[in-house]
Amino acid sequence: MKNRILEELRANSGQPVSGEEISRRLGVSRTAVWKHISKLRSEGYSIESHTNSGYKLVGSPDILSSSELEPYLHTEFIGRNIIYLDSIDSTNTYAKKKAEGLFREGTVVVADEQTGGRGRLGRHWVSTKGKGIWMTLMLKPDILPSDAPKLSIVAALAVTNAIRSCCRLDAEIKWPNDIVAGGKKLCGILTEMSAEEDEIKYVIIGIGINANMDNDDFGQEVSSIATSVRIESGMPVSRKALAASVLFEFEQIYRVFTRDGSIKAFLEDYKSKSAVLGKEVRLISKKEEITGLAVDISEEGHLVVRLADGSYREIMSGEVSIRGMHGYI
Ligand code: BTN
Repeated sequence: MKNRILEELRANSGQPVSGEEISRRLGVSRTAVWKHISKLRSEGYSIESHTNSGYKLVGSPDILSSSELEPYLHTEFIGRNIIYLDSIDSTNTYAKKKAEGLFREGTVVVADEQTGGRGRLGRHWVSTKGKGIWMTLMLKPDILPSDAPKLSIVAALAVTNAIRSCCRLDAEIKWPNDIVAGGKKLCGILTEMSAEEDEIKYVIIGIGINANMDNDDFGQEVSSIATSVRIESGMPVSRKALAASVLFEFEQIYRVFTRDGSIKAFLEDYKSKSAVLGKEVRLISKKEEITGLAVDISEEGHLVVRLADGSYREIMSGEVSIRGMHGYI
């Protein structure tokens, strides 16, 4: 009912609409209308009360609910079904449970706050209320499970393009899928998959963008390696506009990718936005530590490193640290 009242207010585009008229159209009491208006106000909607003419919507909060995001969305299927949660432990955990059943391709789970946001390698992901874009895309691509890890490349390129076009910030990609600016991390991506033999059951892509986070939100330890779009660009970010732009960019690249599971068509673009290529890098895995010059990214999405002895190594996954990029582990 609350959303239908919001629709009534929106439909009147800035003109007041009387409580009596809303109650008549929606078949609820005037007291119920008043209660829902109060609830909308508490969620951040600015609604004026005019004694004779009724309620007028004068401002909407920057939240990522379906009705707020919809006017910004230019996609066909990504984000056309939004599950908006005020607070959740982790949108990835939520999406994973949901993906065990039937779901619509491109469903997006988005939360205003995560109380147990998950990062890679079991790390915690700081997800302050109202300050970031914490969302998970739910997909069932018709590609080989072995090609699914390349979706991290797709997502990283999409987020980078969106930040560049929306926020005028030259964000770069730290292979494979961290987005960085000013030597610190702006966004992290956590891709998880379930597959049976040659068939993907689902892929979920969790995207965490530090949109309007302040240094205090991260805490001392994390703020030495993390930053936000707002800190780097000096401008507050419209989460609605940025989230919609990420979904749009993602859909464009995902369409191309799912034709044959290849990243060839956009690999040069990805490489041109790399923070790693041409730099001295260090990779620490369970087995060994490698240092060398990052020279290329292969069509498999692997990082090609030239070692001191002149030999080449292809790295499939792992944490890269870039020499000179302080604080990265
Ligand atoms: C990383 O370690 O770099 C990955 C971070 C991924 C964070 C996002 S926020 C939305 C989604 N839900 C989670 O719990 N994690 C991902």
